[in-house]
Amino acid sequence: MFIRRSDPSLPRPSEITPESVYLERRHLLKQLGVAGLGLASPGLVAAAGQGAAGARPAPANAYTAIADRGNLPPFLAKALAARQRVTRPFSEALTPYEVVSGYNNFYEFGFDKSDPAQNARNFRVEPWRVRVDGECEAPADYTLEDLLAPHTLQDRIYRFRCVEGWSMVVPWVGFPLADLIRRMRPTSKARHVEFTTLHDPQRMPAQHTDLLDWPYVEGLRLDEAMHPLTMLAVGLYGRSLPPQNGAPLRLVVPWKYGFKSIKSIVRIRFLAQAPRTTWQRMAPEEYGYYANVNPRVDHPRWSQARERRLPTTFFSPNWRETLPFNGYARDVATLYRGMDLHRHF
Ligand code: MTE
Repeated sequence: MFIRRSDPSLPRPSEITPESVYLERRHLLKQLGVAGLGLASPGLVAAAGQGAAGARPAPANAYTAIADRGNLPPFLAKALAARQRVTRPFSEALTPYEVVSGYNNFYEFGFDKSDPAQNARNFRVEPWRVRVDGECEAPADYTLEDLLAPHTLQDRIYRFRCVEGWSMVVPWVGFPLADLIRRMRPTSKARHVEFTTLHDPQRMPAQHTDLLDWPYVEGLRLDEAMHPLTMLAVGLYGRSLPPQNGAPLRLVVPWKYGFKSIKSIVRIRFLAQAPRTTWQRMAPEEYGYYANVNPRVDHPRWSQARERRLPTTFFSPNWRETLPFNGYARDVATLYRGMDLHRHF
């Protein structure tokens, strides 16, 4: 299999800087009179950064956090405010917030890309509980607050590639799924992790239809779930997740097609066998369990060799080459060593 080296600008866990250090650097830059110069004077910024407790230059695509609307539960507001900032620049432009939150697949709220933003506007996510069960030593019903409590949130900028052929770059806020899994202590029998979305047709109107076989279910092999890139997200652009993006808790697996990144999770179950996922029940010949982004394995009805980076228009479709494992091959290819990726698609 052809494997391209992944983007060297990817942040690594050791390159996340606590907000206090980030703010200290900002303060220092201000004192030096260079705040706002940004990339215009990288040498100066870098030099100033080194003076501030080893902090690094501000990211090339640092963003202004979007303010939350409405009443955020205090524990979530606090966790978001205390999040760690990624300081290593990511070479690709962020997809604008309006596009990330306005062009969605969330079939529980309708079929068209604009339906979720419209129909999930009043989606109530409090209180929210997540059941953890199956092959683990700490099964329980957790409130979202208890689930998040021990974790420090991080900003993580990832590419996001849908199996339909469009892609985005999203600044998520979340924490490594591996940290949660360690807390739950999977037994030696656990080989897979199953995730389930809320099933409540009163709150998710399209669940009254047979558009999909509800509830939405996804799964990962345990080692994929434990990979440091795999995260549980509770926000994006520095704010809590908009309902249409999977509030209050969703999965993000950046090297896989977007349908693996299940939204509004209410159950996490450890299993000895691979779960039967929604898309495998719907169309097993089109959507595999692995769903790794792969330009060499086409969807039966379209090529995966290229993708459209949103936002696009008819006149500027913004085509780019699809990268193996969505650009994360260096980090994840070893998970699939020796596997036939055409068969295990
Ligand atoms: N999760 C649930 N519960 N329901 C869905 O319809 N759609 C999936 C995934 N997670 C989906 C879901 C698909 S097909 C994609 S491409 C991504 O969510 C889209 O995520 P986004 O709307 O945040 O871009």
